[in-house]
Amino acid sequence: MSVTVRPTVITGNWKMYKTISEAVSFIEGLIPFASKTHAEVGLAVPFTILPSAAKAAQNSLIKVGAQNLNAEKEGAFTGEISGRMLTDAGASFVIVGHSERRRLFHETDAMINKKLKGALHAGLRTIVCIGETLEEHQQGKVQTVLQKQIEQSFEGITEEQLKNVILAYEPVWAIGTNQTATPEIAQKAHRFCREVMARKWGEIPAEKVVIQYGGSVKADNAASLLEQADVDGLLVGGASLSLDSFSKIIRL
Ligand code: 13P
Repeated sequence: MSVTVRPTVITGNWKMYKTISEAVSFIEGLIPFASKTHAEVGLAVPFTILPSAAKAAQNSLIKVGAQNLNAEKEGAFTGEISGRMLTDAGASFVIVGHSERRRLFHETDAMINKKLKGALHAGLRTIVCIGETLEEHQQGKVQTVLQKQIEQSFEGITEEQLKNVILAYEPVWAIGTNQTATPEIAQKAHRFCREVMARKWGEIPAEKVVIQYGGSVKADNAASLLEQADVDGLLVGGASLSLDSFSKIIRL
């Protein structure tokens, strides 16, 4: 039996934080750490920062990406940004389906599916976020929710396209709450997601998908999460804003 070795991918999600100059000095400080880790390091930055961040990271191993996009290529959509614009601005990846976008901006799985297709079409590696709310967790609905989110947001995605996708399990109750999922909870959810993907695309393609965990990841809990067999990376919010804590996390 062959064992798939998946890369470790650690991504900081800066949300609506940092100015251009703050971002550039952060990236300059992170470069030496990124060159010493075996993990692939990415930063999902605000749109306004993309070109400067991409320039600051250009001779390093740090990948720069965005946190959202519009699914369409172009058009009369005031205030929106397309995948093509993101690659043009220096992004190599994008996040779709973050729970803050689902909850605060009413994004549905159908919308996330369109965004995923638009992102892949533009050549962006795409991180698709899924995860249950506290209420769903307490009601024992974790697997039902994850299965529905995977089936609907990945509708029509081919095995070939899957190669450019990262799945991020971010339980909503763990985001920004300091209530990190235990390594066992994360592993169980990740294993389940992989099984759902295996039913859809087959075991071998599913084994190759990088699954990140996100939700109150800190320097002191990152290692125990990454030790789990199906936890292949981390999506880090608050702790990615400080160079001290993020560089500790990527060094693990
Ligand atoms: P925190 O790490 O701040 O909980 O945020 C997680 C997150 O939303 C990453 O996308």
